[in-house]
Amino acid sequence: MIRHVAHDLYQLGESETGKDGWCEAVRVYVLLNDGCPLIFDAGSHIHRGPIMKDLVELLGETAPGYVFLTHTELPHTGNLSAISKTWPEAKFVISSAILPHVEMPWWVKGEQIQYGHAGSSETYGNRRISFSDAILKDQPGTHWMFDEKTGVLFTADAFGYLFPQTADQKFDDELEDGIPAEWSRRYHESAFRFLPMVSGEKVSADLRRVFAARDVKIIAPTHGNAVRGNINRFIDRVSLAMQGICQ
Ligand SMILES: [Fe+2]
Ligand SMILES: [Fe+2]
Repeated sequence: MIRHVAHDLYQLGESETGKDGWCEAVRVYVLLNDGCPLIFDAGSHIHRGPIMKDLVELLGETAPGYVFLTHTELPHTGNLSAISKTWPEAKFVISSAILPHVEMPWWVKGEQIQYGHAGSSETYGNRRISFSDAILKDQPGTHWMFDEKTGVLFTADAFGYLFPQTADQKFDDELEDGIPAEWSRRYHESAFRFLPMVSGEKVSADLRRVFAARDVKIIAPTHGNAVRGNINRFIDRVSLAMQGICQ
């Protein structure tokens, strides 16, 4: 399903319902970027049909310039082959901290790959994108991307949340009281199994540093909908959830 988030940012992707009835989203984000679209993560292969249909509808005649991969797990890279077949000219931007010949599919050619270096920024189709090491990750080398123009932070697995079916595709400002801390707790507890072994104070302090260093206006998590309403309240609630999970 295509949802317009803000500015030229769109959200695609589907969700899955667990045995307990709680749902988990697997989103893909697109910045249309005036003729050189930027795609953030490729989505799950199990949602290939709707994602490719939505991408073609959203992009029309314009080929994507770059596909940014936060990390190489299948829910984030599952449609690389379909995207590449449809638009062979698209380049993949991956973290400099991963080994492409090990972690990328064999058919990805060296000339299709560009590296994003944590702590640096680059221009892609006149759009400045900066890279940072992901604080919360389930795979080494995961990086986050920040679009300086619109203040969107693409956070891969971090800042996701589980939700009841009624909240599928709803942004935080479309829910009566935003995203509850409990939804964030349910997700982070299962997504990051190491959290009970780390200091909640440190995780919260690290998260605060991320948001102090850049003017984030929208958070774009893969496993949740874009957060575009009350960012500060959302971050406070995620921190609260962390206190409940961590030491
Ligand atoms: Fe992951
Ligand atoms: Fe993931």
